[in-house]
Amino acid sequence: MPDPEPTDYDLLHAQLVTLLEGESDALANTANFVALLYNGVTRLNWLGVYLLRGDDLVLGPFQGRPACTRIPLGKGVCGTAAALRATQLVDDVHDFDGHIVCDPASRSELVVPLLSGTDLVGVLDIDSPRKARFTDEDRDGVERLCSVFLGLLGRAGAAALRTT
Ligand code: SME
Repeated sequence: MPDPEPTDYDLLHAQLVTLLEGESDALANTANFVALLYNGVTRLNWLGVYLLRGDDLVLGPFQGRPACTRIPLGKGVCGTAAALRATQLVDDVHDFDGHIVCDPASRSELVVPLLSGTDLVGVLDIDSPRKARFTDEDRDGVERLCSVFLGLLGRAGAAALRTT
């Protein structure tokens, strides 16, 4: 299978601003953020957010097959990204000790922590059926979009997401 076309993160940035400006509902904006990325990045089978609830990450808006609902901090790729507050780029999930299988089709995974200032809101989880789907450019581009997304939500929107 040929390599996927590189994602135009500048275009997604502009589309995200257009989509979210003028709307203050954090949950609606999160749902549209997820839908924009799922349809704007090729070769994905799942993309969504897990939101911090106490010591767990709980499933939020997503696109793809039904997924596991609750992930403890420190567990799996998502819980590791949240606990370390560091992006996890996994070329082959079979090689990640403790990877949590939701969709068996997933082969590579990119998880970015969602931070509002120093507050952890949750994580964005992106899965691909293709091994090593995500490049350093994807990691940088998705991290930038997450930062823009949190900026558009504002502190009040981020706080609302944590309690929605
Ligand atoms: N694979 C993730 C679980 C979430 S699903 O991929 C949607 C993990 O190991 O944290």
